[in-house]
Amino acid sequence: MNNTLLGGLSPTRFLRDVWHKRPLLIRNAVPGFTGLLSPDDMLHLAGRNDVESRLIQGSGTHWQLDHGPFRKSEFKRLPKTAWTLLVQSLNHVLPAADALLARFNFIPHARLDDLMASYAVPGGSVGPHFDSYDVFLLQGQGHRRWQISTQTDLALLDDAPMKILRRFEAEDEWLLGPGDMLYLPPHVAHYGVAEDACMTYSIGFRAPTAEELAHGFLMHLQDTLTLEGRYADPDLRLQTHPGEISRAMLNQIEGMIARIKWTRPDIAEFAGCYLSDPKPNVFFDAPDSPLSRAAFGKQADRFGVALDPKSRLLFTGGRFFINGEAFTPAADETPALQQLGDQRRLSPPLPAGLRGRLYDWYQAGWLEVDIP
Ligand code: SIN
Ligand code: CO
Repeated sequence: MNNTLLGGLSPTRFLRDVWHKRPLLIRNAVPGFTGLLSPDDMLHLAGRNDVESRLIQGSGTHWQLDHGPFRKSEFKRLPKTAWTLLVQSLNHVLPAADALLARFNFIPHARLDDLMASYAVPGGSVGPHFDSYDVFLLQGQGHRRWQISTQTDLALLDDAPMKILRRFEAEDEWLLGPGDMLYLPPHVAHYGVAEDACMTYSIGFRAPTAEELAHGFLMHLQDTLTLEGRYADPDLRLQTHPGEISRAMLNQIEGMIARIKWTRPDIAEFAGCYLSDPKPNVFFDAPDSPLSRAAFGKQADRFGVALDPKSRLLFTGGRFFINGEAFTPAADETPALQQLGDQRRLSPPLPAGLRGRLYDWYQAGWLEVDIP
């Protein structure tokens, strides 16, 4: 990897000294970068109902948040200053955005969330706030002034429609131009204001809360758990209060629940399914006129295959997980599947044994032939 992206740091040093620990400004992280799309492309994407978009207007203590899709005429009615349009998961709809995300391959895919684009007119901002996850803020066209603070006062405005800090005291300030990037660990307060019409690309990471993980695991257990036995009381004694749940009854229920056990493979199975599961608003498009199995095999053998940008393929031990489904491949399929998981593409020749599986994924819209 050329290491301008991390300001001359190797990924190893970045992870050791910076990641999840401290902010880092990287001037000219992506030399020559002017962005991935024009403001007009953004307005167009914000009109699609399969793309999540938000419009934020305001400043100070007055903020307005609207959710897309938006008609182009709605933008014409907006003032010339102080609004921002956010488009989520740009990597799902724009191959160049997927390619940009691939440059952040030094972070495990299971941690990656998505690439969000923000288009702001002069004075546009989403307000001073903090996020609960790591983020790289890469400046495309135009300029944005970022102020940051490691303040511990994270109190929020009471009646704003988004998370806006009640008080914000800047400790550092930089003007970012095209190709500059700011890395922020979770909970560092930040406030970015567009100097001119500008675009910022946020590479965001996912960090599930303990509660989300536990809830997900309990759901997983519910689907997989088998417990023997049934409530039984051959020693039942006459109760003074038939309405009372006796201690003996509670003891027996407690004993049954205490028999719920899980092992490390259960955790791995849950983690793989949970972390590879697409977000609820993600839908795959099966090919309109799919190639036959034979034609697919021929094309895939010639060009290789690539995961659809929305697909998530992860693995641990010998188990693989794609889009929330688990499977164990044969030993001779494993290296190729690992390569597909790591690089999100697989160059030819493809192992013959893998073709059937790849064809099923192709038919589901999870994978495509990697025609250059
Ligand atoms: C933006 O790019 O406008 C906001 C991104 C962020 O603060 O996380
Ligand atoms: Co933020």
